Amino acid sequence: MQTTINLSNRLKIAASFLPEGSIFADIGSDHAYLPCYVCLGDKSAKAIAGEINEGPYSNAVQTVKKYNLEQRIDVRLGNGLEILRKGEINHLVITGMGGALIRSILETGTDKLMKVNKIIAQPNNESRTLRRWLTAHSFTIIDEEIMEENGHIYEIIVAARIGNRQNLTEKALLFGPVLMKKQSDIFIKKWNFEHKKYKHVIEEMKKAKVPNNNKIVELKKESDWIREVIRLEK
Ligand SMILES: C[S@@+](CC[C@H](N)C(=O)[O-])C[C@H]1O[C@@H](n2cnc3c(N)ncnc32)[C@H](O)[C@@H]1O
Repeated sequence: MQTTINLSNRLKIAASFLPEGSIFADIGSDHAYLPCYVCLGDKSAKAIAGEINEGPYSNAVQTVKKYNLEQRIDVRLGNGLEILRKGEINHLVITGMGGALIRSILETGTDKLMKVNKIIAQPNNESRTLRRWLTAHSFTIIDEEIMEENGHIYEIIVAARIGNRQNLTEKALLFGPVLMKKQSDIFIKKWNFEHKKYKHVIEEMKKAKVPNNNKIVELKKESDWIREVIRLEK
C-alpha cells in the first residue's frame, strides 16, 4: 500500500495550515486527496470528506479505501456543511470553488461552525466576497498565500476565530490584508494583469450608448487602488 500522495502544491499549502491532530472537514473534497494526504502524514488527524455529487463521492470513498484510512476519514454525501453534526470538527478546509459558493456554504451552515477554530479556504474567484463574510462572522484573517500552478493563480485564505471583529478597509477586502503586505511576485503579477483587465473593461463601458457612469467610477477607483498598491506608474 502507498503511504504518500502526490498532492498539488495548491492543496499542500492549504493542508499546511492544519495543526497536528486536527479534526477537520474537507468540503467539496472530490477525490479526498487532501484529507488522505493529511491523515497519512499525521497519525493523530481525523477528517470528514464531504461531497455533493455521486461521482466525486465514490472517488473519495475509493481513495480512502486505497490508503486504508476508513477508520479516520468518514466520507459523506451531501450539500455543504449539512453533512456535519454540531461541534464535530475544529477545522474546516474548503478549496477549489468560487468565492460566492464558499460564502453561501458557510452562510447556510453557520451553526456547524461554532467549534471551528480555523477556516482554510481557496476561492477560485471573488475572494473579496469571502473575506467580507469571514470578517463579518467573527473570523480574523490571520494568513494568506498566493501561488501559481499550471498557469492559474490561486489565493489561500486562513481565518481564525480570535479576538474582536476584524475591521478591514474595502481595499484590504479586495487585495487581502496579508497578501497586500507580503507583496509577493505572484501578487504583483496578478494585479498587473487585473489592472489591464480593468482598463479594458472601463474603455468598453465608456463606449456604451448609455454608459453606466456609477459603475465606471467604481471601477476607476479600484483601478487606481491597484496602481497604488503595486506601485504602477500612471
Ligand atoms: C473543482 S472541485 C475542487 C476539489 C478539491 N477541493 C480541490 O480543491 O481540488 C469542487 C468540488 O466541490 C464539490 N461541490 C460543489 N458544491 C458543493 C457543495 N455545495 N457541497 C459539497 N461539495 C460541493 C463538487 O462536486 C466538486 O467535486
